[in-house]
Amino acid sequence: GFDISKLMATTGDTTFDIGFANTAVCKSAITYIDGDAGILRYRGYPIEQLAEKSSFLETAYLVLYGELPTQEQLSTFNDDISHHMVIDERIREMFRIFPRRSHPMPVLSVGVTALGLFSEDTIGFTEEKLDAATKRLMAKLPTLAAYGYKNSIGSPTLFPDYSLSYVENFLRMSFGSVTRPYEFSDEVTKALDVLLILHADHEQNCSTSTVRLVGSAQTNLYQSIASGINALHGPLHGGANQAVLEMLDDIADRGISVQEYVNRVKDKNSNERLMGFGHRVYKNYDPRAAIIKKHADAILRGHDGNDKLLDIALQLEEAALNDDYFIQRKLYPNVDFYTGLIYRAMGFPTDMFTVLFAIGRLPGWIAQYREMQADPTNKIGRPRQIYVGEKERNYVAMGERS
Ligand code: ACO
Repeated sequence: GFDISKLMATTGDTTFDIGFANTAVCKSAITYIDGDAGILRYRGYPIEQLAEKSSFLETAYLVLYGELPTQEQLSTFNDDISHHMVIDERIREMFRIFPRRSHPMPVLSVGVTALGLFSEDTIGFTEEKLDAATKRLMAKLPTLAAYGYKNSIGSPTLFPDYSLSYVENFLRMSFGSVTRPYEFSDEVTKALDVLLILHADHEQNCSTSTVRLVGSAQTNLYQSIASGINALHGPLHGGANQAVLEMLDDIADRGISVQEYVNRVKDKNSNERLMGFGHRVYKNYDPRAAIIKKHADAILRGHDGNDKLLDIALQLEEAALNDDYFIQRKLYPNVDFYTGLIYRAMGFPTDMFTVLFAIGRLPGWIAQYREMQADPTNKIGRPRQIYVGEKERNYVAMGERS
């Protein structure tokens, strides 16, 4: 009996804003988005320039510290991270207790929480401690992610290799084995580096807001990031890249036509959505999707088994972009529409897609957390509600309840 339309937008002192669609909860100097114009900038630099010219670690430095690093600053940052990539043996052994085939996202979140237990930089919010925790997390997240993956396929883990770049080291820990060295491809290394850059921050999305909300209670950085990882796992957020691939597989397996599928998602009774389409903020196009699309074709053509899914994706995109339902609602492909296809071509199983998103998003989560802790006007996050439950009533004894 609760009729939302009868509620005014503002009730007394409380603004009613489901999903915080119109509520700014902080000031931030990290990421600028203009959803109507399809603009995304980190610290003022357009995403197109960073994707073309920067590297993930350099972009991470920019997001975290506000400026592009000098050569010396970048080398020091790189060295600091390389030397923290190993994780404590007890955490490594912890991975043995998870069931085989555990989804690597919750495993990653547990790994990050455990990391906090093994670190001395969890208490207090001095710049030194936060910076030490920042570098530990940046260094160890790919190691934890690769170990979660190895656990999910029942393979032994590898130690990190300091001589490799951030992305190469992660690829080797994921796909290399003790007996078989990983064969690097410049194309794959570069594409993964670009994908991580595209995910590095995205202002107050669900997982970042979660990191800020949890951190606003002065919860330590590790636990706040673990909460962000859990938020990111949801299929309407980071889990969408996995959901896109499952959708494409489903269309291919059942042999239904693309138009049939589009008709189904338009039917409100189906409760289905065209995964990888639509965005809370971008109502014109997602600039990250435009960058990825350029890489997708180059990486995907020629990889066995992917051409068919890419073709379905291209047909879906075309059908949707010419359909009034999607045009009227301003629904365009988002970053996740093509990323899953690329990740699969690199050899990652669908369960790992969201983990890759988390590795990319880490600098953004940390930068937002640190920005919040450094802000003297920061307050604990505590939204209000509009109560729609029962009025006061008297307790009924057990024997008298109908
Ligand atoms: N397929 C079909 N219809 C859609 C889709 C979609 N993908 N997305 C939105 N709509 C429709 C809704 O049904 C609604 O229609 P109505 O007005 O007739 O009721 C209208 O478009 C507005 O949708 P909302 O859900 O109100 O939009 P919101 O801003 O809350 O949601 C979201 C944004 C969650 C991204 C949504 O578009 C969606 O579910 N997309 C699919 C999942 C996805 O790709 N998520 C990735 C997001 S990007 C990221 O996390 C990196």
